[in-house]
Amino acid sequence: MPEVEADRAYAAEGCEPQLCADDLRIAQFLDCEFDGVAGLAREFPLLIGAGNRDRRFVLEEEGRLVAHAAWRPLILRSGSERLLAAAIGLVTTRRTRRGLGYATRVVHHCLERAQEAGADLALLFAPPRNLYRRLGFVAAGRERLIRLEPGGAAAKLRRANAADAAELLRLLERHSLRVERTRADFETLLDVPGTHAYLREQDGRVRAYCVEGKGRDLRDVVHEWAGEPSEVECLLRALATELGRPLCVLSPESEPSPLEDPELLQSFALIRILRPQRFGGADPVEVFGDSRKPARVPIYVWGLDSV
Ligand SMILES: CC(C)(COP(=O)(O)OP(=O)(O)OC[C@H]1O[C@@H](n2cnc3c(N)ncnc32)[C@H](O)[C@@H]1OP(=O)(O)O)[C@@H](O)C(=O)NCCC(=O)NCCS
Repeated sequence: MPEVEADRAYAAEGCEPQLCADDLRIAQFLDCEFDGVAGLAREFPLLIGAGNRDRRFVLEEEGRLVAHAAWRPLILRSGSERLLAAAIGLVTTRRTRRGLGYATRVVHHCLERAQEAGADLALLFAPPRNLYRRLGFVAAGRERLIRLEPGGAAAKLRRANAADAAELLRLLERHSLRVERTRADFETLLDVPGTHAYLREQDGRVRAYCVEGKGRDLRDVVHEWAGEPSEVECLLRALATELGRPLCVLSPESEPSPLEDPELLQSFALIRILRPQRFGGADPVEVFGDSRKPARVPIYVWGLDSV
């Protein structure tokens, strides 16, 4: 693991992040500076859409945006418990201004606002790096990754769309670990480009569904599924066969797996605890576990909810 550099003064330290109500300005900045591929506003509608204007922060210099980060509240269900998480995303600094502390400043600001709003923890779905370590994030939470080879029996499945959201929500809500999601949010998420949802029906009712891909993320990865385990298994095997390629299937470690194929345990997010008194400690690995350590408080975020 690389050493975390000792604190030193950076240009961004005195800057105060501001809200930005101009949706188009944010979208254009991110499309230029995030990874150079346009379309982020359609891929992250709940994070940077107009409905989340109060939680999108920017830094400006001489009238130009130089950095951005946004957060949105997620209510995590952990059995009968409810926890408030702040999911932070689209952390971006203008290419010519990187390495000066701007991202650190704007993420720190999101953490402060989330803490004020009563969040119990903060989540980031990004690879670990010093930027986040210095802000107290560590890789934590537990998820299973199963590799499913094609070649199983074919079975009837159909593409799901926003019109199926109510039925899919009925199945999703049977998971004891999940994020609370409204039907309207589900409809919006199913419309994100690159999101492919499939379902199995019987007697006019949806018995199982799964979702693969989400915008530019999670390609070839099934990051959400629900339904009777035998129906989910049938759906996943049929999907791998129909697509003619292996599928990676993610799921929470503490729920029964729909598949028995070889699996790997991994951390599913970078986590920082914001209210240690809620958990009896500030160490996310102690509380939520990681690939080596079981969770004391299991949590899970299905892929569609990951900002
Ligand atoms: C990732 C990204 C947001 C970083 O922005 P940035 O403004 O350059 O970040 P910072 O200047 O705050 O931090 C850069 C480094 O300086 C370090 N640093 C910042 N302030 C520091 C300080 N006061 N003392 C010591 N080190 C410091 C950080 O820890 C970080 O280390 P790392 O690069 O090893 O992780 C930027 O490169 C970017 O926009 N990339 C494209 C989009 C992206 O990938 N976003 C992340 C996924 S959501």
